[in-house]
Amino acid sequence: MKTVLISGGNRGIGLETAKKFSKHGYIVFLGVRSHENGLIASHELERLGFKNIIPLLLDITIEKSVKEACKFIGQHTFCLDVLINNAGIRGQQPQPPTSVDIDSIRSIFATNLFGTIVLTQAAMPLLKKSNAPRIVNVSSELASLTLHDNEHWKFYSFKDAGYGPSKTALNAYTVMLAYELRDTAFKINAVDPGYTATEFNGFKGTGDVSDAADLIFKYATLDQSGPTGQFHSKEGQLPW
Ligand SMILES: NC(=O)c1ccc[n+]([C@@H]2O[C@H](COP(=O)([O-])OP(=O)(O)OC[C@H]3O[C@@H](n4cnc5c(N)ncnc54)[C@H](OP(=O)(O)O)[C@@H]3O)[C@@H](O)[C@H]2O)c1
Repeated sequence: MKTVLISGGNRGIGLETAKKFSKHGYIVFLGVRSHENGLIASHELERLGFKNIIPLLLDITIEKSVKEACKFIGQHTFCLDVLINNAGIRGQQPQPPTSVDIDSIRSIFATNLFGTIVLTQAAMPLLKKSNAPRIVNVSSELASLTLHDNEHWKFYSFKDAGYGPSKTALNAYTVMLAYELRDTAFKINAVDPGYTATEFNGFKGTGDVSDAADLIFKYATLDQSGPTGQFHSKEGQLPW
Protein backbone atom coordinates (compact mmCIF):
# COMPACT_ATOMS: atom_id res chain seq x y z
CA MET A 1 0.00 0.00 0.00
CA LYS A 2 1.15 3.54 -0.74
CA THR A 3 1.77 5.93 2.13
CA VAL A 4 1.13 9.62 2.76
CA LEU A 5 1.97 12.02 5.58
CA ILE A 6 -0.31 15.03 6.03
CA SER A 7 0.66 17.82 8.43
CA GLY A 8 -2.21 19.65 10.16
CA GLY A 9 -4.49 16.67 9.59
CA ASN A 10 -6.99 17.00 12.43
CA ARG A 11 -9.29 19.50 10.73
CA GLY A 12 -10.09 21.55 7.66
CA ILE A 13 -8.40 20.83 4.35
CA GLY A 14 -5.87 18.42 5.92
CA LEU A 15 -8.59 16.18 7.39
CA GLU A 16 -10.53 16.12 4.12
CA THR A 17 -7.36 15.29 2.21
CA ALA A 18 -6.78 12.37 4.59
CA LYS A 19 -10.25 11.02 3.72
CA LYS A 20 -9.46 11.29 0.02
CA PHE A 21 -6.20 9.32 0.35
CA SER A 22 -7.87 6.72 2.58
CA LYS A 23 -10.59 6.19 -0.04
CA HIS A 24 -7.85 5.58 -2.60
CA GLY A 25 -6.24 2.84 -0.50
CA TYR A 26 -3.34 4.75 1.03
CA ILE A 27 -1.99 4.34 4.53
CA VAL A 28 -2.41 7.85 5.93
CA PHE A 29 -0.13 9.22 8.64
CA LEU A 30 -2.23 12.02 10.08
CA GLY A 31 -0.12 14.73 11.73
CA VAL A 32 -1.88 16.27 14.74
CA ARG A 33 -0.62 18.65 17.41
CA SER A 34 -2.37 17.10 20.40
CA HIS A 35 -3.43 13.61 21.51
CA GLU A 36 -6.90 14.96 22.14
CA ASN A 37 -7.31 16.35 18.61
CA GLY A 38 -5.86 13.14 17.19
CA LEU A 39 -8.37 11.02 19.10
CA ILE A 40 -11.31 13.20 18.07
CA ALA A 41 -10.25 13.10 14.41
CA SER A 42 -9.52 9.38 14.33
CA HIS A 43 -12.81 8.44 16.09
CA GLU A 44 -14.71 10.54 13.60
CA LEU A 45 -12.84 8.98 10.65
CA GLU A 46 -13.46 5.46 12.00
CA ARG A 47 -17.14 6.24 12.53
CA LEU A 48 -17.38 7.32 8.89
CA GLY A 49 -15.69 4.11 7.76
CA PHE A 50 -12.31 5.46 6.69
CA LYS A 51 -9.50 2.92 7.02
CA ASN A 52 -5.75 2.90 7.50
CA ILE A 53 -5.49 6.35 9.05
CA ILE A 54 -2.80 6.51 11.72
CA PRO A 55 -2.68 9.67 13.84
CA LEU A 56 0.73 10.79 15.06
CA LEU A 57 1.90 13.76 17.08
CA LEU A 58 3.44 16.41 14.84
CA ASP A 59 4.12 20.05 15.57
CA ILE A 60 6.20 21.30 12.66
CA THR A 61 7.66 24.18 14.68
CA ILE A 62 9.28 21.72 17.11
CA GLU A 63 12.22 19.85 15.56
CA LYS A 64 12.06 17.04 18.12
CA SER A 65 8.39 16.47 17.31
CA VAL A 66 9.16 16.36 13.57
CA LYS A 67 12.04 13.89 14.04
CA GLU A 68 9.99 11.63 16.29
CA ALA A 69 7.08 11.66 13.83
CA CYS A 70 9.37 10.63 10.94
CA LYS A 71 11.01 7.98 13.13
CA PHE A 72 7.55 6.59 13.95
CA ILE A 73 6.67 6.44 10.24
CA GLY A 74 9.98 4.69 9.50
CA GLN A 75 9.07 2.03 12.08
CA HIS A 76 5.75 1.36 10.31
CA THR A 77 6.68 1.53 6.65
CA PHE A 78 9.66 1.17 4.32
CA CYS A 79 9.03 4.41 2.45
CA LEU A 80 6.85 7.48 2.23
CA ASP A 81 5.25 8.10 -1.18
CA VAL A 82 3.61 11.45 -0.53
CA LEU A 83 4.17 14.41 1.78
CA ILE A 84 1.41 16.99 2.07
CA ASN A 85 2.78 20.11 3.74
CA ASN A 86 -0.64 21.38 4.75
CA ALA A 87 -0.12 22.78 8.28
CA GLY A 88 -0.37 26.54 8.19
CA ILE A 89 -1.51 29.55 10.19
CA ARG A 90 -2.93 32.87 9.14
CA GLY A 91 -1.70 34.82 12.17
CA GLN A 92 -3.48 37.63 13.95
CA GLN A 93 -5.25 40.13 11.75
CA PRO A 94 -4.63 42.76 10.55
CA GLN A 95 -0.97 42.68 9.51
CA PRO A 96 -0.26 46.22 8.21
CA PRO A 97 3.30 46.41 6.86
CA THR A 98 4.12 49.64 8.74
CA SER A 99 3.04 48.49 12.18
CA VAL A 100 2.52 44.72 12.46
CA ASP A 101 4.29 43.21 15.45
CA ILE A 102 7.45 41.50 14.21
CA ASP A 103 6.89 38.54 16.54
CA SER A 104 3.59 37.92 14.82
CA ILE A 105 5.37 37.72 11.45
CA ARG A 106 8.07 35.49 12.99
CA SER A 107 5.49 33.02 14.26
CA ILE A 108 3.73 32.85 10.87
CA PHE A 109 7.04 32.16 9.11
CA ALA A 110 8.00 29.66 11.84
CA THR A 111 5.05 27.50 10.82
CA ASN A 112 4.36 28.22 7.15
CA LEU A 113 7.99 28.30 5.99
CA PHE A 114 10.57 27.07 8.52
CA GLY A 115 8.41 24.28 9.95
CA THR A 116 7.59 23.09 6.45
CA ILE A 117 11.28 23.00 5.55
CA VAL A 118 12.14 21.11 8.75
CA LEU A 119 9.46 18.50 8.02
CA THR A 120 10.43 18.19 4.35
CA GLN A 121 14.07 17.58 5.24
CA ALA A 122 13.21 15.08 7.97
CA ALA A 123 10.89 13.14 5.65
CA MET A 124 13.40 13.16 2.78
CA PRO A 125 15.14 9.83 3.56
CA LEU A 126 11.76 8.03 3.55
CA LEU A 127 10.54 9.89 0.45
CA LYS A 128 13.73 8.99 -1.42
CA LYS A 129 12.93 5.31 -0.95
CA SER A 130 9.67 5.69 -2.93
CA ASN A 131 9.59 4.95 -6.69
CA ALA A 132 7.50 8.07 -7.31
CA PRO A 133 7.80 10.55 -4.43
CA ARG A 134 5.43 13.52 -4.45
CA ILE A 135 5.35 16.67 -2.32
CA VAL A 136 2.51 19.17 -2.27
CA ASN A 137 3.16 22.44 -0.49
CA VAL A 138 -0.22 23.92 0.34
CA SER A 139 0.17 27.55 -0.63
CA SER A 140 -2.23 30.39 -1.36
CA GLU A 141 -3.10 32.71 -4.22
CA LEU A 142 -2.07 35.46 -1.77
CA ALA A 143 1.53 34.30 -2.35
CA SER A 144 1.54 35.53 -5.94
CA LEU A 145 3.47 38.79 -6.33
CA THR A 146 2.32 39.00 -9.95
CA LEU A 147 -1.33 38.99 -8.82
CA HIS A 148 -0.55 41.51 -6.05
CA ASP A 149 0.53 43.83 -8.85
CA ASN A 150 -2.82 43.52 -10.66
CA GLU A 151 -5.37 46.02 -9.38
CA HIS A 152 -8.21 44.06 -11.00
CA TRP A 153 -7.43 40.91 -9.00
CA LYS A 154 -10.21 40.06 -6.48
CA PHE A 155 -7.74 39.95 -3.55
CA TYR A 156 -5.75 43.04 -4.58
CA SER A 157 -6.37 44.79 -1.24
CA PHE A 158 -5.22 41.75 0.84
CA LYS A 159 -1.75 43.15 1.58
CA ASP A 160 -0.93 41.44 4.91
CA ALA A 161 2.78 41.65 5.80
CA GLY A 162 2.94 38.16 7.30
CA TYR A 163 0.69 35.50 5.80
CA GLY A 164 0.98 36.20 2.06
CA PRO A 165 4.76 36.74 2.19
CA SER A 166 5.20 33.50 4.18
CA LYS A 167 3.50 31.63 1.34
CA THR A 168 5.55 33.57 -1.25
CA ALA A 169 8.64 32.26 0.54
CA LEU A 170 7.14 28.75 0.62
CA ASN A 171 6.65 28.98 -3.16
CA ALA A 172 10.30 30.01 -3.54
CA TYR A 173 11.35 26.99 -1.46
CA THR A 174 9.19 24.80 -3.74
CA VAL A 175 11.09 26.05 -6.80
CA MET A 176 14.52 25.54 -5.21
CA LEU A 177 13.64 22.07 -3.91
CA ALA A 178 12.19 20.94 -7.24
CA TYR A 179 15.34 22.18 -8.99
CA GLU A 180 17.65 20.28 -6.65
CA LEU A 181 15.65 17.10 -7.25
CA ARG A 182 15.02 17.71 -10.97
CA ASP A 183 16.88 14.58 -12.14
CA THR A 184 14.99 12.26 -9.80
CA ALA A 185 11.46 10.81 -9.79
CA PHE A 186 10.23 13.56 -7.43
CA LYS A 187 7.33 15.84 -8.38
CA ILE A 188 7.07 18.85 -6.08
CA ASN A 189 4.46 21.56 -6.52
CA ALA A 190 2.79 24.40 -4.66
CA VAL A 191 -1.00 24.23 -4.73
CA ASP A 192 -3.53 26.93 -3.87
CA PRO A 193 -6.61 25.14 -2.47
CA GLY A 194 -8.80 28.21 -3.06
CA TYR A 195 -10.75 30.29 -0.56
CA THR A 196 -12.20 27.38 1.40
CA ALA A 197 -14.66 27.33 4.31
CA THR A 198 -12.61 26.22 7.36
CA GLU A 199 -11.76 27.51 10.84
CA PHE A 200 -8.87 29.30 9.13
CA ASN A 201 -11.24 32.02 7.90
CA GLY A 202 -14.14 31.55 10.33
CA PHE A 203 -15.83 29.36 7.67
CA LYS A 204 -16.28 32.41 5.42
CA GLY A 205 -14.50 30.75 2.49
CA THR A 206 -16.63 30.21 -0.59
CA GLY A 207 -15.08 26.87 -1.57
CA ASP A 208 -15.68 23.41 -0.17
CA VAL A 209 -13.02 21.30 1.59
CA SER A 210 -13.73 18.37 -0.72
CA ASP A 211 -12.77 20.43 -3.81
CA ALA A 212 -9.59 21.58 -2.04
CA ALA A 213 -8.75 17.96 -1.16
CA ASP A 214 -9.41 16.82 -4.76
CA LEU A 215 -6.93 19.40 -6.06
CA ILE A 216 -4.26 18.48 -3.53
CA PHE A 217 -4.77 14.78 -4.32
CA LYS A 218 -4.39 15.50 -8.05
CA TYR A 219 -0.97 17.11 -7.58
CA ALA A 220 0.08 14.46 -5.05
CA THR A 221 -0.56 11.66 -7.52
CA LEU A 222 0.86 13.11 -10.73
CA ASP A 223 2.36 10.61 -13.13
CA GLN A 224 5.94 10.90 -14.31
CA SER A 225 4.97 13.28 -17.15
CA GLY A 226 3.44 15.74 -14.68
CA PRO A 227 4.87 19.15 -13.78
CA THR A 228 7.33 19.88 -11.00
CA GLY A 229 8.37 23.19 -9.43
CA GLN A 230 5.10 24.88 -10.39
CA PHE A 231 2.21 26.69 -8.67
CA HIS A 232 -1.35 25.52 -9.44
CA SER A 233 -4.95 26.26 -8.51
CA LYS A 234 -8.30 24.91 -9.71
CA GLU A 235 -8.14 27.40 -12.55
CA GLY A 236 -4.73 26.18 -13.73
CA GLN A 237 -1.13 27.36 -13.34
CA LEU A 238 -0.70 30.51 -11.22
CA PRO A 239 1.96 33.16 -11.77
CA TRP A 240 4.67 33.54 -9.12
N1 LIG B 1 -8.97 27.88 4.02
C1 LIG B 1 -8.55 28.68 3.03
O1 LIG B 1 -9.30 29.50 2.49
C2 LIG B 1 -7.13 28.57 2.53
C3 LIG B 1 -6.79 29.27 1.37
C4 LIG B 1 -5.49 29.18 0.89
C5 LIG B 1 -4.56 28.38 1.55
N2 LIG B 1 -4.93 27.72 2.68
C6 LIG B 1 -3.91 26.90 3.34
O2 LIG B 1 -4.41 25.58 3.49
C7 LIG B 1 -3.79 24.95 4.63
C8 LIG B 1 -4.86 24.34 5.51
O3 LIG B 1 -5.72 25.36 5.91
P1 LIG B 1 -7.17 25.11 6.54
O4 LIG B 1 -8.07 26.07 5.88
O5 LIG B 1 -7.50 23.67 6.59
O6 LIG B 1 -6.88 25.66 8.02
P2 LIG B 1 -7.29 25.17 9.47
O7 LIG B 1 -8.65 24.58 9.49
O8 LIG B 1 -6.97 26.32 10.36
O9 LIG B 1 -6.25 23.97 9.75
C9 LIG B 1 -4.89 24.23 9.91
C10 LIG B 1 -4.24 22.97 10.39
O10 LIG B 1 -2.83 23.24 10.57
C11 LIG B 1 -2.48 22.78 11.87
N3 LIG B 1 -1.30 23.49 12.37
C12 LIG B 1 -1.14 24.81 12.65
N4 LIG B 1 0.09 25.04 13.13
C13 LIG B 1 0.73 23.85 13.16
C14 LIG B 1 2.00 23.43 13.55
N5 LIG B 1 2.90 24.27 14.07
N6 LIG B 1 2.33 22.11 13.43
C15 LIG B 1 1.44 21.23 12.93
N7 LIG B 1 0.19 21.55 12.56
C16 LIG B 1 -0.15 22.85 12.68
C17 LIG B 1 -3.72 23.02 12.73
O11 LIG B 1 -3.62 22.27 13.92
P3 LIG B 1 -4.46 22.71 15.25
O12 LIG B 1 -5.85 22.24 15.07
O13 LIG B 1 -3.72 22.01 16.34
O14 LIG B 1 -4.36 24.22 15.35
C18 LIG B 1 -4.77 22.50 11.75
O15 LIG B 1 -4.82 21.10 11.78
C19 LIG B 1 -2.97 26.05 5.31
O16 LIG B 1 -1.61 25.91 4.93
C20 LIG B 1 -3.53 27.34 4.73
O17 LIG B 1 -2.56 28.38 4.69
C21 LIG B 1 -6.18 27.79 3.20
